[in-house]
Amino acid sequence: MPNPDHPVVERQDMNPLAIVTGASRGIGAAYARLLASRGHDLLLVSRDETRLVPFVRELETNYGVQAHVFIADLAQPDAAHQLFVESRRYRQTPDMLINNAGFGLYGEFVSHPLPRIQEMLHLHVRTVVESIRLFLPGMIERGSGSIINVASIAGMIPIPYFAEYAATKAFLVSFSEALVEETRDTGVVIQACCPGQTETDFHASSGFRPDSLLPMQTADQVAQTSLAALPNKRPVVTIGWQGWLAALVMKWLPRMALKAAGRITRPATRSDLTS
Ligand SMILES: NC(=O)c1ccc[n+]([C@@H]2O[C@H](COP(=O)([O-])OP(=O)(O)OC[C@H]3O[C@@H](n4cnc5c(N)ncnc54)[C@H](OP(=O)(O)O)[C@@H]3O)[C@@H](O)[C@H]2O)c1
Repeated sequence: MPNPDHPVVERQDMNPLAIVTGASRGIGAAYARLLASRGHDLLLVSRDETRLVPFVRELETNYGVQAHVFIADLAQPDAAHQLFVESRRYRQTPDMLINNAGFGLYGEFVSHPLPRIQEMLHLHVRTVVESIRLFLPGMIERGSGSIINVASIAGMIPIPYFAEYAATKAFLVSFSEALVEETRDTGVVIQACCPGQTETDFHASSGFRPDSLLPMQTADQVAQTSLAALPNKRPVVTIGWQGWLAALVMKWLPRMALKAAGRITRPATRSDLTS
């Protein structure tokens, strides 16, 4: 077990290191591939060793970077601390931390199993807050670093039938925006990334069929838009003008937006509620 008090000795010629959670597929994998193509070494986290190990080998072969895996369930207590300790095998402080791991839970709140709700609260909120508390001081001390918290456009208003999901994402937007102000003159950049509907396994695993009237983007588009917007120090909505329009409506007409969200997510019949 690496000792966080005796971290690796860093050399000047080392690539920057990015940590990406939930990197086995979807948006996290897109961030990882894009960062590898830009010369970042990687520490990639997920529970799925069978996917993650071949993925890092592919990145190493294609881009000549060093990529490491950390197989972990980030919904477990102490996950953030374990990630922090693991990261010190490779760098004293990473250059980038992307808190992306997450999942959706569709259906009536009262029907959701309590263990799944606890898993979501832990993964989306507790592990993210604890990770930032552990990694941010080193970034501030060095005077550089980036933290991206993958929230969602769903974090901008309450969403019936995605109640706790939208609430955890709202927490991430609020928390990120506050930290942007606290760290403004430190050289550290913090972003709440708010994707709209994105083509990944997310919808199938949450049990929600995506709305065909709303635009759909690719995971690559999310990662590209997010990284390009990093210097802006503002939450980024990654779905073009439709996303910004939705964000404006949500901000200025919240009751209307809440009703509209409920119409989109309301199941046609009770049997459509999967959880
Ligand atoms: N897709 C969308 O429409 C959309 C829209 C807005 C926001 N988002 C957000 O984008 C992020 C990525 O989602 P995605 O769309 O890429 O979904 P995805 O394809 O289902 O990927 C989810 C990732 O999170 C990881 N993960 C889930 N639970 C974990 C746990 N307990 N410990 C460690 N890793 C865990 C998964 O890894 P393993 O299963 O291998 O552990 C996987 O790599 C999420 O935070 C999601 O809320 C997605």
